[in-house]
Amino acid sequence: MSRAAKVVADTPVDQLTRRQADKERARLAKEIARHDGLYHRDDAPEISDADYDALRRRLTGIEARFPDLLEPDSPSLKVGARPAQGFAKIVHARPMLSLDNAFADVDVGEFFERVRRFLGLPAGEEVVVVAEPKIDGLSVSLRYGKGMLERAATRGDGAEGEDVTANIGTISSIPAKLLGDDIPDVVEVRGEIFMNHADFIALNLRQESAGEKSFANPRNAAAGSLRQLDVSITASRPLSFFAYAWGEHRHDGVESAPAASQAAWLDRLRGWGFPVNPLARACPDLAATLAFYRDIGERRAGLPYDIDGVVYKIDRVDWQERLGFVSRSPRWAIAHKFPAERARTILRDIAIQVGRTGALTPVAELEPVNVGGVMVSRATLHNADEIARLDVRPGDTVVIQRAGDVIPQVLEVIVESRPEGTQPYAFPSHCPCPLSTPVAAEEDGVVRRCSGGYECPFQQVERLRYFVSRGAFDIEGLGGTHIENFWRDGLLKTPGDIFRLHVRQAEIGKREGWGEQSAANLVAAIESRREIALERFIGAIGIPSIGESTAKALAREYVEAGVWFDEMLRARDERTLVAGVVKKEKATAEVGPGFGRLCNVADIGVTTADRLVGFLAEGHNVEIVRDLLAEVRVQPYRVSAAAAGSVVAGKTVVFTGTLEKVTRGEAKARAEALGAKVAGSVSARTDYVIVGADAGSKARKAQELGVRVLTEDEWLALIGS
Ligand code: IVH
Repeated sequence: MSRAAKVVADTPVDQLTRRQADKERARLAKEIARHDGLYHRDDAPEISDADYDALRRRLTGIEARFPDLLEPDSPSLKVGARPAQGFAKIVHARPMLSLDNAFADVDVGEFFERVRRFLGLPAGEEVVVVAEPKIDGLSVSLRYGKGMLERAATRGDGAEGEDVTANIGTISSIPAKLLGDDIPDVVEVRGEIFMNHADFIALNLRQESAGEKSFANPRNAAAGSLRQLDVSITASRPLSFFAYAWGEHRHDGVESAPAASQAAWLDRLRGWGFPVNPLARACPDLAATLAFYRDIGERRAGLPYDIDGVVYKIDRVDWQERLGFVSRSPRWAIAHKFPAERARTILRDIAIQVGRTGALTPVAELEPVNVGGVMVSRATLHNADEIARLDVRPGDTVVIQRAGDVIPQVLEVIVESRPEGTQPYAFPSHCPCPLSTPVAAEEDGVVRRCSGGYECPFQQVERLRYFVSRGAFDIEGLGGTHIENFWRDGLLKTPGDIFRLHVRQAEIGKREGWGEQSAANLVAAIESRREIALERFIGAIGIPSIGESTAKALAREYVEAGVWFDEMLRARDERTLVAGVVKKEKATAEVGPGFGRLCNVADIGVTTADRLVGFLAEGHNVEIVRDLLAEVRVQPYRVSAAAAGSVVAGKTVVFTGTLEKVTRGEAKARAEALGAKVAGSVSARTDYVIVGADAGSKARKAQELGVRVLTEDEWLALIGS
């Protein structure tokens, strides 16, 4: 790492300049990808889980502070996500690259300078670029053999994407057959799939009236519409396309560039029948380039689609070839980003929101203001540190920013406009709830939490709201406002109370806005949820850090509610006796078998296990779970129908080495779908070890322990695929 990069790496997120933040974002994304590879592919992690988490947190911190730096392929968007199931993978013949960013005119000037220096151009030689609007969609690569569309792939991680050939086939503006007679043997055409504003609005209206979920923005809508396993859904969605780049190009057995210049390439694309952005322009020098950027900036609001900047590409392809690439972006192109939409307004007050887990989030209450077409009256202030950094006070004039579908944030305070006599904001030391419990700072010092747990009325309401929501118990007819009103009037305090509401059915029927029928419907809806699967039950409790997939992993491991709860209490008791840092591998030896077992459940780990036992260390939480267990019938974990007939159901398997037919993530997901447990290390309890290429110590250990070792092909034969 260079000295400058090291300084940046040591600078706290809230002190980074935007340029430093962008560099640091790129460095972190690369580092995280490298560690992902070491962990998942090579089985050879170099850093602890905690250090890995710290990298991710820093990246998320940067993206929260500069939302417009969030890249569509950021590791932060892949939290817990597995490669989407169902689509085959396609390895790109040439990687699909990303672009370096410029934010200010000087950055663009430096780009031109770098290019001149690299090529050693004499003073009189002008550098022509082609400038194209940067469409905010998703990029795809379309492979044509002898002029016929053969395969289409999403960008994926740049090296490997998903096969969306059938979906692309439904987009009428993409030619299935190239027009004209100037057709290469093979050409990969690359470009952006996107959705027009009008089409987006109409789609959301249709979705809403059909009771389906609507999309947050046109980009999400485009991505969600393309990546549909049911192609008829893609066909019903209005997707558009602009072509702008190429991947592999081969003719008469020779690999070559498909054109001598970017401008000529765009012409060739038009000739073949592709839509090409009509705003693309060749700019003869830096001044013309910047003028184009300003012109597009002014027209941006009136364009029928979202753009987030302008891309400049060196026009001459021979120069492009000499310039080549640095890591994952070309030296011959750069994206000049538009600033996120900003506006000035007055901050009336700072409100404190209390979340389900007690985190106190300060929220700016603003004089409503129009930011890029959306009225904004609230913006997040993130946490106490952020308020201190900004020194923001009620009455201040502030600059707010809104980027895409991200929550608006307060960027800066116009100190000159500050009214007289204001004082720095003092973050409350007590929860704003009627109990006014003291607030505690978390270890990392940033998040302040109300220490009241379930006793805090605000948390009670938030947890109840979560408890009845779709992802949890999914109780129909008991929305947020009902929860608040019932809670206020003493009908509800804990989740268990919901299952006792039936005794008050008559009373509910007489409440304002209710009637006999609706009260009966509510009771029936609650009754229908009295029986619940273990994984849903665990998820619904709202234990910090336990989301849907972790809840499922817990259910798979402990199978029955009683066993699960007893084991959690055992883990908690063991952990109360042993404080301090422990490693996952040593959890059993150093803390105890209960805690060790918990830490070794797929995708848990010491941090999550600690959160879980910490939750149960609060007595009232134990009471709440006990009370709920008495009200509902929890179904033991049941393997799916696919798993029921599977020979590997209930077996513990370990994958090691490099798999060739599928990625590690896919192999794991498939095994789990068939009811197998996928473990990270080999023990006497392991049933199968599946070895890929270059398998190391795990394969040896399996042999020592007499565990069955299978090749990838033997495994696939065993599971019948
Ligand atoms: S050129 C090596 N041109 O921006 C060239 N990209 O940050 C790579 N994008 O993944 C891409 N409009 O999804 C190029 N006119 C345009 C673009 C464009 C949008 C997206 C594309 C790419 C991302 C790079």
